[in-house]
Amino acid sequence: MKVTIKDIARECGVSTSAVSLVLNGRDTRISEETQQKIIGTARKYNYRPNRLAVSLLKKETSTFGVIIPDISNIFFAEFCKGCETAARGNGYTLMIMSSDEFPPDSMKHINTFLDSQVDGIIYVAPSNIDNRSIHEICSKIAAADIPFVAVDRALDFPSAKSVLVDNIHGGYIATRHLIKLGHERIGCLTGPLCNKISRDRLEGYRMALEEHNLPFDRNLVLEGNFSVDSGRQSLPHMQKQRATALFCFNDMMALGVYRALQDSGLRFPDEMSLVGYDDIFVTSLLETPLTTVNQPAYEIGSTSIRILLALVQGSTDIDSMVFTPVLKIRSSTRPLRH
Ligand code: RIB
Repeated sequence: MKVTIKDIARECGVSTSAVSLVLNGRDTRISEETQQKIIGTARKYNYRPNRLAVSLLKKETSTFGVIIPDISNIFFAEFCKGCETAARGNGYTLMIMSSDEFPPDSMKHINTFLDSQVDGIIYVAPSNIDNRSIHEICSKIAAADIPFVAVDRALDFPSAKSVLVDNIHGGYIATRHLIKLGHERIGCLTGPLCNKISRDRLEGYRMALEEHNLPFDRNLVLEGNFSVDSGRQSLPHMQKQRATALFCFNDMMALGVYRALQDSGLRFPDEMSLVGYDDIFVTSLLETPLTTVNQPAYEIGSTSIRILLALVQGSTDIDSMVFTPVLKIRSSTRPLRH
């Protein structure tokens, strides 16, 4: 039988409110001896507070909902780790759901969060979602009056605070690095182009080419979907287009290209340089460590929770946040040999 506060009070000969005050560490005039007796009895019976009862009393669940687009993408695992550590440090538990890049699941997850009375929501939208669905989702959260933070993928919704990364700069520094190594035919494997992240990274790619008087060749741009498979499948196209370097808009696709390069007979990285995006930890462990654009996934996660906490506590003067990505140069990029 689960021990309750009443049982402890009875055994110690005190009131239930005295037990509650002591176990919650509140200031109390109860004698030290009685306090120790209450704590000792709670320990003896492995007493755990009833979260449901506490939630009802406090009218909050101390739970945040987090939606990510793909739980198998290491970038989002690192992001969740940052969220989880920051949430736990502040007494919150997370419910984490993945939409598996399937937009209708976002709404299902939002409904689950609302039914579970979460105190706040962190939303990373699927990469292939349209603006109308985004608007429906944001309106639903706003109507429930629950604070929320949009992460990674900017949402065009007035009340959404966001934590983003400067993707134009990311696309620019990756491409400029390859140009500086002498590459002129630089393949570009994007994410879904309905998504602003991909369009911004592509804009950065285009800017770097323009700055160095290189033509923008449509044939060198291939639309991927952020999966390992779309990376793997892109290589024949890039070879056909005589690309000497390939810039992938995330590391999962770069890992797919990496695998395909090993099977292709091409001398990698001598005949094909490769750049990824995200800097997930495995990229530095590869036999040929990957040059990649670093986005601080863990810090993005913890910052998102801090902003959400501030919103929950009623702050009104919170700014959205934009991180600046940096290039990590490793061994997968080489000067072009003619
Ligand atoms: O790896 C997934 C990609 O999608 C990342 O680059 C991140 O920015 C997200 O949008």
